[in-house]
Amino acid sequence: MRTAIYPGTFDPVTNGHLDILNRATELFDGVTIAIAADSNKTPLFTLGERMELLSNATKDMPNVRVSVFEGLTVEFARKCGAVAIIRGLRALSDFEYEFQLALMNKKIASDIETIFLMTQSEFSFISSSTIKWAASLHAGVSDFVPAYVEKALFSKYSGSRTDLNSED
Ligand code: COA
Repeated sequence: MRTAIYPGTFDPVTNGHLDILNRATELFDGVTIAIAADSNKTPLFTLGERMELLSNATKDMPNVRVSVFEGLTVEFARKCGAVAIIRGLRALSDFEYEFQLALMNKKIASDIETIFLMTQSEFSFISSSTIKWAASLHAGVSDFVPAYVEKALFSKYSGSRTDLNSED
């Protein structure tokens, strides 16, 4: 069994994340989604909510499991018996940060590889922050997140939805 972890904040999970995850499951026997409990971001969704949204998104993917971790990503990878860390690259602007992270991880744990998957062009401009921003202003985000994530976003912001594609 060759497995990988896919770490991130996932606040919330997007179709971009799911695209990377889908492709990672083709490369590995199993993939563990690793939700960072102590990311330096201030998340909108609690850990429990992010876990629930991700579990829902992956319920038909038998070789995926969802976990929460604290501390170093590479240590969590080791604990899972994973040989690789999956990261998505959207644009050149992601590269510098991801390169630093990958080199630091390699320095700490030389046996664990970071594998970068290029995002599909249709998701290359989205991030969880831009999606939250749009949803907070009541814009529909159904092109970018699963329906239940959009619903969770709207209920967090508890506003009424404006469908940008609507004629009226
Ligand atoms: N489609 C859409 N959006 C994507 C995406 C894709 N394919 N890939 C990444 N993103 C977005 C995310 O939504 C997120 O958006 P946001 O910034 O608006 O929230 C952003 O790109 C990147 O976030 P994420 O992938 O969640 O990573 P991160 O930068 O928050 O890092 C960890 C998370 C867990 C990998 C990192 O904090 C970590 O490794 N922490 C543990 C401590 C550690 O080991 N540090 C390194 C050694 S010192």
